[in-house]
Amino acid sequence: MPHADTSLVPDSIETKAEFWTHVHDQLEILMAGQRHWVSNLSNAASLIYNSLQAFPSNFGDGERSVNWCGFYLISSLFPQPRFTEDNYASMDPKFQTHASTRMLLGPFSGKPACQWIEVSPRPRGVCGDAFVKRTTILVTDVQTYPGHIACDGDTNSEIVCPLILQKGGEDGKDIALGVLDLDCLAIGGFDEDDQVGLEKIAALIIRSCDW
Ligand code: SME
Repeated sequence: MPHADTSLVPDSIETKAEFWTHVHDQLEILMAGQRHWVSNLSNAASLIYNSLQAFPSNFGDGERSVNWCGFYLISSLFPQPRFTEDNYASMDPKFQTHASTRMLLGPFSGKPACQWIEVSPRPRGVCGDAFVKRTTILVTDVQTYPGHIACDGDTNSEIVCPLILQKGGEDGKDIALGVLDLDCLAIGGFDEDDQVGLEKIAALIIRSCDW
């Protein structure tokens, strides 16, 4: 099957539970034989985004469309600048990677978005909160969420699912690697069925990549 066809959604799929199981299984096929997170997350974002566009009974490409799907990841996962500690400190701050204080924009589908999101000393936005609290946050109406970061003024609802590597730390503790973020044009675009489906996909992504 051509890779692009993995984002087709068969007419037999009616419920969100069936939809998310289908997307999960298609993603597992796409990621087989590849453990690099850049490639896997790129295809994950595209697959989820395009599958949702192809699921008109719940999202589709009209006024209930998902308008962004992507990842923010801790900056230590990205290539680091080749600088010594001394000249790193004197660099223009916008070129510093802020190792433990920021998530950086990762692979996504949709319009351009914020390049980074602060997570400490104070988390920013829905993404920062989901990362720090290590729990999925479902926002029915972004206007009512204090601190929501409006990357696109057309977004009305949002769901953010953290990516947690169980026992991934040197001390055996869990590590938060980033978040999976989806935005929708409609108020109340996402519900608990989407949360269950996306959390399973997040777990699949975590175990399918080297971090
Ligand atoms: N709205 C998010 C920021 C990321 S964009 O939606 C792509 C937030 O409040 O964290």
